[in-house]
Amino acid sequence: MISAIPRGVTLSARLVVLVSGSGTNLQALLDACADPGFGAQVVAVGADRDGIEGLARAERAGVPAFVVRLSDHPTRTAWDGALAAEIRRHRPDLVVSAGFMKILGPDVLRDHTVINTHPALLPSFPGAHAVREALAYGVKVSGCTVHFVDEGVDTGPVIAQAVVPVKWDDDEKTLHERIKSVERELLVEVMGRLAREGWTNDGRKARIGR
Ligand code: GAR
Repeated sequence: MISAIPRGVTLSARLVVLVSGSGTNLQALLDACADPGFGAQVVAVGADRDGIEGLARAERAGVPAFVVRLSDHPTRTAWDGALAAEIRRHRPDLVVSAGFMKILGPDVLRDHTVINTHPALLPSFPGAHAVREALAYGVKVSGCTVHFVDEGVDTGPVIAQAVVPVKWDDDEKTLHERIKSVERELLVEVMGRLAREGWTNDGRKARIGR
């Protein structure tokens, strides 16, 4: 499938960014979007919980935010439908899962192209504890992966990866911080290029550009 942001419809790609925590990747995107040449704008921030720094970052940037809590819905399917409806209201061209710690369901994925950033070199160490598991395994390099989201857990087509060395005395916090400083740059580069150049995705292999 070859895709592109419809240029005649939007001047810059509309991003909805989903967060669950500190939102430093979100902040990097907000900062990049201040440059009109970047080609994208964050039109809304969504979260699965209240009281997180990611939501405070949205507020400081004057970007609308919404919260859809799993515990407010009788089933995961109902939560997925409510999240999809909130996202749809903001008419995104792309949805970015940037530290969003929930698996997205079929309603969200049917309606939107979703990009996730993950703190490991997929397909190694998928899931919520990637940094801890990479350290425990004893790998000498790890890194980050930006990929299209499919129905699996961190299984979608890889768009870009960057390698980060693991130090002998790293703990989960020090390694994650080193990965995140590289990850923010990679995510910003990928999102800007996807917005400006489009992408090609056959469901397994993906690249930027048509
Ligand atoms: C990032 O490292 C992101 O890859 C990770 O959470 C961090 C969020 O940081 N996501 C996952 O582990 C998802 N499996 P941030 O809130 O500072 O952007």
